[in-house]
Amino acid sequence: MKIAIINGPNLNLLGTREPSVYGSETFEQYYETLQKDFPQVEFSYFQSNVEGELINHLQAVGFSVDGILLNAAAYTHTSVGLGDAVKAIDAPVVEIHISNTFARESFRHQSYLSPVVKGIMVGFGLDSYRLGVMSFLTP
Ligand code: DQA
Repeated sequence: MKIAIINGPNLNLLGTREPSVYGSETFEQYYETLQKDFPQVEFSYFQSNVEGELINHLQAVGFSVDGILLNAAAYTHTSVGLGDAVKAIDAPVVEIHISNTFARESFRHQSYLSPVVKGIMVGFGLDSYRLGVMSFLTP
């Protein structure tokens, strides 16, 4: 089972960025735990602050992995291009959000990904990623 994790803009700052919203753990720390907890999964991880790089990476892995966990961060709410990329690839994508975007500003209620993904994990802190992994493991 191959799962690609793709994180969008500003998620490289997890740990120091708005800890009251996103917690105080870095993604690198969390990713290490995740890899230990699911030894049967071959993970890859990519983060970029650049929309086109996220699209390039979706296309690069989207025909060879079994699933993708995509936290497109702010681009979730703005990017037609990312939504089109999700539609264009074979791998099922789960949309991930650390915070409950529906409990925040109204511009975060809009997603160009939600209509085209397999499912959505929203608001469980970093464990939204863990739940996303589990969604690929359960039949
Ligand atoms: C986020 C929610 C987005 O609205 C925000 O722009 C982010 C992170 C989350 O994981 O909660 O950068 O995707």
